[in-house]
Amino acid sequence: MNDSTIATVRLGDGGPEVGVQGLGCMGMSFAYGPSDTGESRATLERALELGVTLYDTADAYGAGENERFLSPFFTAHRDEVVIATKFALSIPPDDPTRRVIRNDPPYIRQAVEASLKRLDVDVIDLYYMHRRDVNVPIEETVGVMSELVREGKVKYLGLSEVTADELRAAHSVHPVAAVQSEWSLFSRDIEAKVVPAARELGVALVPYSPLGRGFLTGSFVNAEQDLTADDFRRQQPRFTGANATANAALLEPIRAVAEAHGASLGQIALAWVQQQAAVHDLAVVPIPGTRKPSRVEENTAATRITLTQEELALLDPVAAKVAGTRYADMTFTSAGRE
Ligand SMILES: NC(=O)c1ccc[n+]([C@@H]2O[C@H](COP(=O)([O-])OP(=O)(O)OC[C@H]3O[C@@H](n4cnc5c(N)ncnc54)[C@H](OP(=O)(O)O)[C@@H]3O)[C@@H](O)[C@H]2O)c1
Repeated sequence: MNDSTIATVRLGDGGPEVGVQGLGCMGMSFAYGPSDTGESRATLERALELGVTLYDTADAYGAGENERFLSPFFTAHRDEVVIATKFALSIPPDDPTRRVIRNDPPYIRQAVEASLKRLDVDVIDLYYMHRRDVNVPIEETVGVMSELVREGKVKYLGLSEVTADELRAAHSVHPVAAVQSEWSLFSRDIEAKVVPAARELGVALVPYSPLGRGFLTGSFVNAEQDLTADDFRRQQPRFTGANATANAALLEPIRAVAEAHGASLGQIALAWVQQQAAVHDLAVVPIPGTRKPSRVEENTAATRITLTQEELALLDPVAAKVAGTRYADMTFTSAGRE
């Protein structure tokens, strides 16, 4: 580890050792408007130089395109990276606003084979259930995932947006290394039940959208005015209309803390979520998404910022004031079923 390399942490009891911040790769192929392929590839390489080892994708990101895009990087650095991908979600090409969720065994079996093929690897390091299909008992879903571990197709298991009860039921079938859920200064619903359950079971938390999908960096305010027509953030109630304007005002305390540290808004958002590891006594590995090498430098540098108790207290009330939910349909999240 040199001065610019990030620290490492174990991803849950018995999970792999990873850089304490991962990289979300979704935006490279999906959801956040056009990407520059060369810049995205440079971002992946820079992240690795800085000690980022956990790379996050899903079969749903661009209908397999994100996994295909990442494959050359993964195969070139196979022993240095921890590949995380997901199954369960698909988006009908004729209606990009719809989500189809499946957790049944035959679906999982075909999904894992398709991901292994697109990634061009023999084994997936961390395989997540992306979303919960409540029509299938979670024990059945995790039972099949556990078979994939025994068959050598997958090393560790993860679950995304599960409730505390779902996590407990799953963990009794096979150890879960990580829960991936939205967690940021703007989205703290998982702290009520999911985080305590993860701590109790020795499961790591992988916060997705730790920058509030970019809103916490101040890089956009109103998704309808500031982002391209196909940008997913236009579908999220908190980023449009009067909600967006009201929420922009909530950045003020974050700005004050940033000024005190000579840091950016985004760095304070990342430092806050990272520090939840100490606050809640569990492993936390945020996966900010970016397609720019300079931003991966900025984001990883945030792992070296420690907020004071006074700063944490100043930031504490922010989430409760956010106008608008994080998804239009909250049954898509653990909080919507908890
Ligand atoms: N499990 C799930 O259901 C789920 C849901 C959503 C996301 N995820 C995963 O979590 C990852 C991260 O979440 P996310 O991408 O939704 O949100 P995020 O990390 O909160 O924010 C990403 C946005 O912030 C911008 N950004 C990043 N660093 C920045 C910086 N230093 N300064 C200014 N802007 C910056 C990015 O733009 P550029 O890319 O242009 O830099 C992008 O628009 C995804 O990539 C994906 O792998 C999982």
